[in-house]
Amino acid sequence: MTDTVVEDIKSRLDIVDIIGNYVTLRQSGTNFKGLCPFHNEKSPSFMANRERQIFRCFGCGEAGDIFAFVMKQENIDFPNALALLASKAGVELPEKFTKGRKSGVEKSALYTVNDLATKFFNHILVQHPAGKEALDYLHKRGVKNELIERFQIGYAPSSNLAIQQLFKKHDFTTDAVRLAGSPERYRDRIMFPFRDVIGQVVGYSGRALHDQVPKYLNTAETDLFRKNRYVYGLFEAKKAIAEAKRVMLVEGQLDLVLAHQAGTAYAVATSGTALTDDHLTILRRYSDTLLLAFDADSAGQKATERAISLALSHGFEINVVVLPAGKDPGEIIATDRSAWDRAVNKPLSAIEWLFGYYFPDISKRPSATERKKIYDALFPYVDKLADVVTRSYALQRLAFSMGVTQEKALVDAFEEWKETPPSSEPSRRISSQPEQEKVGEPNQPAFVSEEARREKSIVGIVLLHPDLLIHKQLHLEEKDFTNEALHHLYTTILSWYNKNTNQSNLSQLISSVETTLSAAARQSLQKLIFDTQTELAELTREQVVGEYTFLVKSVRQKQRDERMQHYADEIRAAEAANDRLRVVQLMQEMQAALKEKELHAKENP
Ligand code: UTP
Ligand code: MN
Repeated sequence: MTDTVVEDIKSRLDIVDIIGNYVTLRQSGTNFKGLCPFHNEKSPSFMANRERQIFRCFGCGEAGDIFAFVMKQENIDFPNALALLASKAGVELPEKFTKGRKSGVEKSALYTVNDLATKFFNHILVQHPAGKEALDYLHKRGVKNELIERFQIGYAPSSNLAIQQLFKKHDFTTDAVRLAGSPERYRDRIMFPFRDVIGQVVGYSGRALHDQVPKYLNTAETDLFRKNRYVYGLFEAKKAIAEAKRVMLVEGQLDLVLAHQAGTAYAVATSGTALTDDHLTILRRYSDTLLLAFDADSAGQKATERAISLALSHGFEINVVVLPAGKDPGEIIATDRSAWDRAVNKPLSAIEWLFGYYFPDISKRPSATERKKIYDALFPYVDKLADVVTRSYALQRLAFSMGVTQEKALVDAFEEWKETPPSSEPSRRISSQPEQEKVGEPNQPAFVSEEARREKSIVGIVLLHPDLLIHKQLHLEEKDFTNEALHHLYTTILSWYNKNTNQSNLSQLISSVETTLSAAARQSLQKLIFDTQTELAELTREQVVGEYTFLVKSVRQKQRDERMQHYADEIRAAEAANDRLRVVQLMQEMQAALKEKELHAKENP
């Protein structure tokens, strides 16, 4: 019985669509790839497959079907996942599955409370005379009806009798209403529902209509709503974010709604709290380009500086939308739409913005002393850049802003540095955070790192499909491997293949490989064959090729990144030793290596 319902739901949903709510996926061969939502990473090792309706992360090892994904991602049990996916699929669950889940305190019941309250508030705002003043106010602020619908904005009237009756009629328990965030406690406020990325209402922000305090009243923390992780507007923005390949951060509910109205529908906002690392980790899964559009006042500038500082270490490319002094996005959009368009289309890079923030009055060609000041103020930001490539570009921009070439800027800065070392610790590593904390499964102690997992999959694939080795450009070299045993296996397979190109007899290959192995290694080989057979079981030939290509390319990318990191470390050491000539020389070598990397990227898009 459960099986039929589950199969019915699965047949109506697409895992790529569901996962696409939580992370931007891009098609890559027969797979869709993106950043893994289950561990922190900066380059994608997470794949979803439409034909097989499964996902798999080569980084942390999470894998499964649509139910496994939703349970893990939403942190819910199977019955709640069933309720959630059934509603997404438009499948009516038989009564035995829903018992206690409509009026109890299960998560699915809490969503029902908020869903009903949201419809109620929206109805009052749009249809009921009690909502007329609020509706007029929104219109006056420039919000059109279409946006009221899109964001399900509502109005909580001065009396909460009606909503209490409504809850009673639906048999909601007081516990359920409280755990849902107590929507009945809002009075005389314009209601902005907080929707999660799949559209379920998790709370509200209520804006006072008549100068009550606070001006904005937000839902308290509940099981559904965690303000430090909640990104307002993401549900409505995620499609535009994927299309525009960037995400804009604004400061307020009205700014956000108006930004969407003004064609910048990739805007999101934090709510009731300053920006956190969790917010940024979530946003990074949707886009690697961040546009900051905070109020053009001193609070907004401080918030911008802080946001840049935080977001740099997440590997974002950051730009800042500069608005006329004293204005916020909402005001500009409502009063001068073309000024908004201009500001959005000509943002400043973070470094340029910081330059102006710290040195609004500096001359075009700063003196040596001024240059040192600039360098000391801005270098800590450059230093935070997680990605060495971006770091090098930022240095160039910094030098450009100073009106000097990069080498000259560095030499000058070091010249003076010798006398007074800057306060920031010079020996700090550029990327001190490990890319991932969670590695391996307890039953696979031999291949715990992300690299080794990839290597293992590649070796497994060429073991079962040695004919893929015909693609010479996809061959790996010793330096591509982190795991020595896997490298040994790979070269053994490769030399066997070179001797036996015209026949692909698997058992011959395996027995030939086995002769080179110890007993323990032979056991690992058996396990590798078994694992790979399981992984590839339902794949077509074309899909195997796709997976193989993907893996080889990820290994090489990783390797190039490490080479850049090596340069960064060397430069760092030379800086610490005040060896300016060495710094300049290393910078040049790195530039050359970067060019090589770009060429490579062009050849293999
Ligand atoms: P602002 O005070 O700048 O409000 O707060 P605003 O966006 O200009 O408000 P409008 O345009 O007059 O409506 C910016 C954001 O800070 C949060 C809200 O998310 C608000 O949108 N805030 C502000 C609160 O959470 N509580 C408050 O009391 C005030
Ligand atoms: Mn504001």
